[in-house]
Amino acid sequence: MIIRAETLADRPAALSVIEAAFGSPGKARPIEAALLEQLWECPAYLPELSLVAEDDDGVVCGYVITTRARIGEVSSLGLGPIGVLPSQQGRGVGRLLVDGSIERAAGLGEVSLVLLGSPSFYGRFGFVRADVRGVLPPEPAWGEDFMIRALGESPIPTGPFRYAEPFDGL
Ligand SMILES: CC(C)(COP(=O)(O)OP(=O)(O)OC[C@H]1O[C@@H](n2cnc3c(N)ncnc32)[C@H](O)[C@@H]1OP(=O)(O)O)[C@@H](O)C(=O)NCCC(=O)NCCS
Repeated sequence: MIIRAETLADRPAALSVIEAAFGSPGKARPIEAALLEQLWECPAYLPELSLVAEDDDGVVCGYVITTRARIGEVSSLGLGPIGVLPSQQGRGVGRLLVDGSIERAAGLGEVSLVLLGSPSFYGRFGFVRADVRGVLPPEPAWGEDFMIRALGESPIPTGPFRYAEPFDGL
């Protein structure tokens, strides 16, 4: 399994992964797929922080995108959507993608990474509830699922969090 930055050629496979991870047979296309297409086209897209997991046969089985966001007027990052093919879940691919995102973002000198997800999964990577650190979610109801992780020595800024613009349409 390798984790690498996506290329334009990966987009169909990445979209398929997100559709399979978030979708259900017979149900409408998941909103995460349309969101991903919009994120690719928006100024907040950061190709170096959009990662694919490729198995030993060269098949893309996992994907995560991280986009430019803000805490007040300070730059931050929003992680997600993230997805792993259902047949490959529970084998550590998600962990590799999250670890890879943290490592690469920290290497670029980024200060903080934010996401909406399950504390039982993301707590293991050092994410903590954001609002108690003064970073306020766009939706107060997100509560403990809205999490942040510092990426270096700099303190986490405080203020309202704004995802990339396509998230506003959800
Ligand atoms: C969430 C997801 C990306 C994790 O990828 P993965 O490759 O299955 O994860 P790993 O194998 O690295 O880790 C497995 C752990 O994640 C946990 N996990 C998986 N999905 C979870 C979820 N939705 N909520 C909480 N924990 C979850 C598993 O219980 C397991 O925990 P354990 O290590 O304590 O047994 C993947 O399951 C997925 O694509 N899910 C559907 C889409 C989705 O929910 N995306 C995330 C929204 S925040």
